[in-house]
Amino acid sequence: MKVLHVAAEVFPLIKTGGLADVAGALPPALQRAGADSRLVLPGLPAIADAVLHQKLVCEIGPAFGAARVSLRLGQLPYSKIPAYVVDAPYLYRRGGSPYQDSNGVEWSDNLQRFGLLGWAAAHLAAGELDPEWTPDVVHAHDWHAAMTCAYMTAHPATRAASVFTVHNLAFQGLFAPGEFPALGLPPKFMAAAALEFHNKLSFMKAGLKFADRITTVSPTYAREIATHEFGCGLDGVIRSRSADVSGVLNGVDQDVWNPATDTAIAARYKADALTGKGACKKALQAEMGLAQDAAAPLFGVVSRLTSQKGLDLVLAALPGLVRDGAQFLIQGTGEPALEAAFRAAEKENPDRVATRIGYDEVLAHRVVAGCDSILVPSRFEPCGLTQLYGLRYGTLPLVRRVGGLADTVVDANELAVAEDRATGFSFDVATPAALEQCLLRAAALFRKPEAWRKLMLRAMAQDFSWTGAAQDYMTLYAQAVEARKAMPRLVSAV
Ligand code: ADP
Ligand code: GLC
Repeated sequence: MKVLHVAAEVFPLIKTGGLADVAGALPPALQRAGADSRLVLPGLPAIADAVLHQKLVCEIGPAFGAARVSLRLGQLPYSKIPAYVVDAPYLYRRGGSPYQDSNGVEWSDNLQRFGLLGWAAAHLAAGELDPEWTPDVVHAHDWHAAMTCAYMTAHPATRAASVFTVHNLAFQGLFAPGEFPALGLPPKFMAAAALEFHNKLSFMKAGLKFADRITTVSPTYAREIATHEFGCGLDGVIRSRSADVSGVLNGVDQDVWNPATDTAIAARYKADALTGKGACKKALQAEMGLAQDAAAPLFGVVSRLTSQKGLDLVLAALPGLVRDGAQFLIQGTGEPALEAAFRAAEKENPDRVATRIGYDEVLAHRVVAGCDSILVPSRFEPCGLTQLYGLRYGTLPLVRRVGGLADTVVDANELAVAEDRATGFSFDVATPAALEQCLLRAAALFRKPEAWRKLMLRAMAQDFSWTGAAQDYMTLYAQAVEARKAMPRLVSAV
């Protein structure tokens, strides 16, 4: 099975969120499951300068406003997975993030930048760019890659099947309808049955309408996005594809996130040798200027600071918990108002609250290892990876019961504790009171070291490796390939 992943970011080369972790870990997991998997990536500096042993595959020529576009094939460092790089310096060689400039403003030519990515993937799938390797399945991730599915439909001779994964429905890639001609697609693609969405042009819709199979990153989020509450206006489209939508939980890259081998943390530890965890907490408290208090429950956050993540709830619940003796450590970057509020919280209680604004992968490991509990109180969460890292490090996740958080954390209610199934804490409504009550419950259990330890061991015993997810994707790919064989593409169906 030859599988081509299309993604805008990949760990460790460039990462703005969990999408990069998935793009970095899923292709090698598929390789281990017997697939021949490759990626196609935009030639952003962090990618074009890091992919090893690059060779020219073909000159594409002028495209999407760029005078020179070519396709190169090399290997990702670390995993050694083959990766195609769409080399278009005019569109990709610049600072900032993959999606925005350094002031946080969306690049004005994102339609061209990600249109080209999808176009290149679709033409690879058609066997036109690299005659030596044609995928059986193209797996496109999020709106940045979604146009792949439209271009494959516009190219009916393509035999490859397409799978589209929604990592976050809230980011849709919407553009002014007047930009449509730049995509070079037949006019019928700009219709309500195709890319048109409330007088806008939607890249996300290209994936939802044209992919053979749609997945998202947890079974609960797969159900949620078919509802008005979580559907971001696309729930009708998703319901119309219900037979083709499923959820596959993300895994954890066991080589990157492993407390027994992690060189970023103060001391290594594992389930049957937990002393190192205490040393990690002590070192983290010292590093952060928090009171050296082993008896204080230390709650951590490693997150984008956006309304999705529900961190305003943490701000509101924080004073009560600090009075109760808890400590908080917030690592993140995002909305300026949240950044300022967490800084102010630190100023008010410097030995109980620490705030680190910024993106720092190594610090994230120390936070996950050194805290007692990791907070993910999201308003919505397609999968969430930090709670999975928390489980693996015995840092009990405290989460809101939505999306992938609901699928991965078992609340320490009386029954689950009695049955030794509990792995963390969860609450339902997105209110400060509900979060505070949950935090108080966790703090109370923390004061019973034996009970807490039992939960830690149960959490650390969870298996969220990529092996199972890769198997699920292999089954899905096989089904998509069979279905595609039985049903040739009909561009007239658009
Ligand atoms: P999302 O993709 O919605 O941001 P996930 O939980 O899937 O949420 O993934 C977030 C990833 O980004 C995790 O690997 C987490 O450790 C990392 N991360 C988030 N914020 C930071 C930060 N400030 N510094 C380092 N890593 C971060
Ligand atoms: C998105 C989601 C997050 C998920 C990640 C990887 O960024 O917000 O929940 O874990 O993608 O799939």
